[in-house]
Amino acid sequence: MREVSEPPAFTHSPGAGGEPDYSLSAQLAGDVLWRPAVTEYPGQPDQVIVGGYCVVGPGRHRETLQLASDGASVSPNFIDNERLKAILAFLQGDCFHLHKPWPISGSRVVFQLRDRETGDIVEPFKFAVVPGKADFDRIPLPGKDRMRRVAGTADTPVKFLDGGCAAALQMDALLQATTGRRLNQFKSVLDWGVGCGRVARFVKERLVPSARLTGADIDDFNLEWCRENLPELRTLLFPLMPPTKARGSSFDLVYGLSVLTHLTESVQRAWFVELARLLKPGGIAYLTFNGLIAALYQGRSSSVLDSIQARGISDEMRDPALGEAMTGYYRVTFQAYPHVTAAVEPMFSVLAHYPHMFGVQDVLILERRRTG
Ligand SMILES: C[S@@+](CC[C@H](N)C(=O)[O-])C[C@H]1O[C@@H](n2cnc3c(N)ncnc32)[C@H](O)[C@@H]1O
Repeated sequence: MREVSEPPAFTHSPGAGGEPDYSLSAQLAGDVLWRPAVTEYPGQPDQVIVGGYCVVGPGRHRETLQLASDGASVSPNFIDNERLKAILAFLQGDCFHLHKPWPISGSRVVFQLRDRETGDIVEPFKFAVVPGKADFDRIPLPGKDRMRRVAGTADTPVKFLDGGCAAALQMDALLQATTGRRLNQFKSVLDWGVGCGRVARFVKERLVPSARLTGADIDDFNLEWCRENLPELRTLLFPLMPPTKARGSSFDLVYGLSVLTHLTESVQRAWFVELARLLKPGGIAYLTFNGLIAALYQGRSSSVLDSIQARGISDEMRDPALGEAMTGYYRVTFQAYPHVTAAVEPMFSVLAHYPHMFGVQDVLILERRRTG
């Protein structure tokens, strides 16, 4: 597995021709970096493309990789991607896309990357999920207007289901690896920033039936969809700024997927205190944030990188996904790992940091301190 405990220190200086040179001092620490994806196959109903982008380090050849599901391993097609190569040049590896057509069948198919020679799963916490017909039928899909509020652009049904299911599988695996506890060992779980239940619908099926799953959001439009379509989810409308009315020490797991990515520095700080209040002592917070790789992949503007370098965070970019009126609050935020840890450390111990894990975002796993 590729493990980078510290984010790469980056140098950002004008290169020849006045263009910024986004070079990171990072090397590819493991030997494979994969971002899985499943998308519709254009013009082919009931077919999807399984794949995603991949960077392999020096010493490994792309042909050594296969896509593996429970039943079978298949060799994907490899497609060079010059844009990716330019963005991820700092990783100093071979950059390409993996691509494999796959039929949608009755049941879900989960893919991971496998080393063709050793049979080992590489990037063991990453999954690509081809939803089964049952996934489409079990719970309705939210409309595009609601998906757009959580994804920025309107997700396609396949992407929405793949992303939500893969996130739940990943959380289960990372929690087990980091805390020794799987989702089915948590009894009271909060989805902070539940949106239209993209992940909650798959987390619920991994909890024991007696466990309680609560979804909280500031966006009542999407909460309304959750109330109507996810009857087993308790919903809470949160204010933009804490405190909330929820009882203290009432959760043993809080997960917030792509929520910090929308908050300013001061708003984040206020919510860290609130999340700590809501968690039981020893409880776990599982949070994602846009780290340096995300900044390079998505930000691409020197002002973002300058701000991260100067302040540890870039939180000025306005995000209209919840409407223009919300852009004073709702941002596109990027930050360096030490910036997050400095803010959480009074209330939490940092158990793990997994860069480039949830899409391009980093995953942070924290434990609520028993005092403080
Ligand atoms: C990018 S979306 C992600 C939604 C969901 N976690 C997912 O992965 O599909 C961010 C969500 O966080 C919500 N949000 C933003 N700030 C929040 C806050 N302070 N408390 C609760 N939810 C918040 C937004 O309304 C939105 O639904």
